[in-house]
Amino acid sequence: MLAFFVMALFAIEKTFTASACQEDDTLKIISREEWGARDAKHITNMSNPVPYVIIHHSYIPGACNDTDQCKQAMRDMQDFHMDDREWWDIGYSFGVGGDGLIYEGRGWTRMGAHAPKYNDQSIGICTIGDWRINIPPPNQLKAVQDLIAFGVRDGRINKSYKLLGHRQTRPTECPGQALFDEIKKWPHFSSTTKEVKMPANTL
Ligand SMILES: *[C@@H]1O[C@H](CO)[C@@H](O)[C@H](O)[C@H]1NC(C)=O
Ligand SMILES: *[C@@H]1O[C@H](CO)[C@@H](O)[C@H](O)[C@H]1NC(C)=O
Ligand SMILES: *[C@@H]1O[C@H](CO)[C@@H](O)[C@H](O)[C@H]1NC(C)=O
Ligand SMILES: [Zn+2]
Repeated sequence: MLAFFVMALFAIEKTFTASACQEDDTLKIISREEWGARDAKHITNMSNPVPYVIIHHSYIPGACNDTDQCKQAMRDMQDFHMDDREWWDIGYSFGVGGDGLIYEGRGWTRMGAHAPKYNDQSIGICTIGDWRINIPPPNQLKAVQDLIAFGVRDGRINKSYKLLGHRQTRPTECPGQALFDEIKKWPHFSSTTKEVKMPANTL
């Protein structure tokens, strides 16, 4: 009888050990090649770890619900940023889709174009969709949080990082009121960085 209990305990302990070991330290990220990115016109390197994480929404394109749509959204944003804004590349470090997947933009080590004054010291994450009224679905929010957590573990993001919404860096609606209210509840949200007031006549 005693032997049975000892064996049972040993089995439980083994199960825990096995699952702890399975917490893998890789994160699936859809590469630029996989979503069909154009080459950047120019690259400026950025050193890690960065002290800021800045959350955006795309507003347009709207939410993408499967991987084909999300890849298309990444290509549309890149075209807009390169052709209309005349930037070197898609502005964001990463996109996160309604399919719960993470898409590589400029990545961890290339300086982004998404938040003036913060571009060389932040990771900019675009939560694809318009999040003024509704928050993104749980799988999309979880992917954003997983990306940040991985970045901290991997030495890409300072473990004492500050989390900001885009509107705390310049006058903009981004990342949408609903998503902004959501990230206020997340760890590391910095309420000391005040929202930049928008002129009355802008959205
Ligand atoms: C930027 O980083 C890449 C990849 O690590 C490297 O090959 C390249 O030489 C760097 N460029 C500059 C200007 O430091
Ligand atoms: C994704 O689903 C939302 C909610 O149903 C819908 O509004 C949106 O148009 C869909 N996106 C696409 C690209 O079809
Ligand atoms: C992380 O941030 C803290 C607080 O700003 C700073 O003291 C520290 O040097 C940073 N660490 C690295 C590795 O950059
Ligand atoms: Zn933004």
